[in-house]
Amino acid sequence: MQAEITSTKHIPVLATEVMQQLDPKPNDHYLDLTAGYGGHAQLVSAKAGATGNLTLVDRDEQAVEHLKQIFKGKSNVRIMHSDFLSASRELLKENKKFDVILADLGVSSPHLNIAERGFSFSSEGPLDMRMDQRQSKTAADIINHASEAELVGILKKYGEIKHSAKLARILAAGRPYKSTRDLAGRVAEAIPRRKKRTHPATEVFQALRIAVNSELELLEQSLPLWFELLAHKGRIGVISFHSLEDRLVKQAFRDYGGNRYDARLHIVTKRPIVGSDKEIVFNPRARSAKLRVAQRK
Ligand SMILES: C[S@@+](CC[C@H](N)C(=O)[O-])C[C@H]1O[C@@H](n2cnc3c(N)ncnc32)[C@H](O)[C@@H]1O
Repeated sequence: MQAEITSTKHIPVLATEVMQQLDPKPNDHYLDLTAGYGGHAQLVSAKAGATGNLTLVDRDEQAVEHLKQIFKGKSNVRIMHSDFLSASRELLKENKKFDVILADLGVSSPHLNIAERGFSFSSEGPLDMRMDQRQSKTAADIINHASEAELVGILKKYGEIKHSAKLARILAAGRPYKSTRDLAGRVAEAIPRRKKRTHPATEVFQALRIAVNSELELLEQSLPLWFELLAHKGRIGVISFHSLEDRLVKQAFRDYGGNRYDARLHIVTKRPIVGSDKEIVFNPRARSAKLRVAQRK
């Protein structure tokens, strides 16, 4: 598996912008809530130095194993195999504070490129899509067993699909689905004509992935905790990859920031920072990345 991961290497997005905006310094305490394959964490580690302190969280076991390899023997690095909501609750209980916090949301390149993980319809794989494989609910459970009404809700809320009711009816009638390609093929038959250039199954796969991993619920509940975990003048950066996530981040920054007398945050990025044309050429994932930054008052 290690060889496969290396061959589908994850390139960190907006790395230059993250470093400029979060500006880690020697001795800083850094919390990476989605440490993944350690791209951002290694850059921060180089700045924070041996006297800095790193707490790295990820709910994916393969990512965690990779992090353990990269930071082997470093006593100033703590690695937590956990979803970021549970990890944040634990860190708050421990009264921890951090100078720099980063959340680079969503999936990693290995998630998309390793067919057995079932995130991508471009290769044949099981309908899995679990970021944390200790979890029991998979995409197959949802697509093959959810009620039609539940499917409508998932397609509408997480895929923002216009004719969700009609599509849910067609998908429910075509059950069971055995693989990623099987489902993608059925969606393509149901939506034969489309103005967008992307495959018709794009939004269906996004919706299922968000539902399987409770992505929006975890993000919404975690954001206030992250603000609590910031030290005085500490900075937080959140990178999102679709509008549903970005909306939650923007709203939470607004709720806790602004000019009110009791505002806890200063919003550093009035508009989100996006990838440069140059970055998008060598890292297509950067195309939809949006970085928002705030500072604890
Ligand atoms: C875009 S990748 C992060 C890549 C990382 N910044 C790097 O440079 O290698 C996102 C990572 O977040 C993890 N992840 C997503 N949602 C999570 C959650 N709720 N809790 C913990 N980890 C999560 C995924 O497993 C994935 O490894």
